[in-house]
Amino acid sequence: MTINGTTSNGKDRSQLIPFSSRLREGRALAQDVWSIFNAANLPADCINLGQGYMNFGPPEWIKSAAEEALNTVATNHYSHPKGRPRLREAIKAHYEPEFGRTLNADTEILVTSGANEGQYSVFVAFLEHRDEVIMFEPFFDQYLPSVTFNGGVPVYVPLHPPTAAGKQSSHEWSIDFDELRRAVTPRTKMIILNTPHNPVGKVFTRHELEQIAAIAEEHNLLVMSDEVYDSLVFDNEEHVRIATLPGMWDRTVTVGSAGKMFAATGWRVGWLIGPPSIIQPTLAATTRIVFCSNSPLQEASAAGLEQANKRGFLKKQLDEYAERRRILTAGFDQLGVKYTNPQGTYFVLLDISNLQWPDDYPFPESVLGRGRDFKACWFIAMEIGVSSIPVSEFYCEEHASIGEAYARFAFCKDFDTLKHAVERLQKLKQYLV
Ligand SMILES: Cc1ncc(COP(=O)(O)O)c(C=O)c1O
Repeated sequence: MTINGTTSNGKDRSQLIPFSSRLREGRALAQDVWSIFNAANLPADCINLGQGYMNFGPPEWIKSAAEEALNTVATNHYSHPKGRPRLREAIKAHYEPEFGRTLNADTEILVTSGANEGQYSVFVAFLEHRDEVIMFEPFFDQYLPSVTFNGGVPVYVPLHPPTAAGKQSSHEWSIDFDELRRAVTPRTKMIILNTPHNPVGKVFTRHELEQIAAIAEEHNLLVMSDEVYDSLVFDNEEHVRIATLPGMWDRTVTVGSAGKMFAATGWRVGWLIGPPSIIQPTLAATTRIVFCSNSPLQEASAAGLEQANKRGFLKKQLDEYAERRRILTAGFDQLGVKYTNPQGTYFVLLDISNLQWPDDYPFPESVLGRGRDFKACWFIAMEIGVSSIPVSEFYCEEHASIGEAYARFAFCKDFDTLKHAVERLQKLKQYLV
């Protein structure tokens, strides 16, 4: 008989089979920020501006397409590992004007199980043991374990925050290109770019991308351009795709997500666009990982892409997100705090350096011993009733102090929820020094 992993003769059987050592790297076993700032740990009426998913669903016409697919026999079964032809054709039609080139739906487009699995497959397909992968901090937290699971070594280059007070554009978060150059070694294989950027909201300028492209060309680097927020770029800012810069198509894989585009993060449909030399090895990897992505929701995503512009959906959605951004940032303006106004995405970084809580405030174990931002986010959630995410989680240890100054608020929520959150956030005033 076994009780709590111990047999009657006293032998500990709870860790009988050692798990792979690759899990020890990349913070894969650490308690992650999402499980700490999770609804289950926070007050029941806490407004969730933490994790970046919407509190609304996809539009009815896309859901009807999903329903139709579920009611069709063929779309309940396996798809080709490349993705369903209808979806690949829809991706081709949508992105050709954006890339300014003809895309081959057979060899240059790959449907994946969310952007995340697509990115993982690229790492599987291209990383050799100890290959270095440059990522800008703050970074989307999945990159780190996905790189280390595949033997890669993350190399971090921070985006430098603006120093002035008040409302700052995300554009002010800058790259020190000497620092970027110094990060490149003979072992560097890849650079991960994310524009529009989570969590900063920065939309990289053409000039910045040209400089990154020059470094990639000089050192023969693969560029993974994570553009999952490409339909959420505000104020007519230009979203430049690095793959469209001279010479860059051949070394760039661009990442997209139906989850972000159609408010369907749980559908797990994403895509990669790039030259056959990148897409074909990645197809070999994704075929082993998931074989194929779920069929009915690929059909629905295809309907989404086919009709999005005809129905004016993307424009309407963008206007709504701009209004959401306005509601939240107006609240921060009223408070007189420093924050980053995003050019894209649905995140606002609030500078929490001036927030002061009582010395004896009872923080739980999970938050003690982490950055100051973990305490700030916990305090705001418990006392103000609005959850957010501490930004040091998106930095390596060496640079965590940069992130400790910020809490990330997601505004992918309906207007009423945001207005309510803004009302509550005014109570922060008494804790600002
Ligand atoms: C920058 C970035 N890349 C990729 C993803 C993952 O997208 P998907 O849900 O399609 O896997 C996210 C999701 O939050 C993200 O913020």
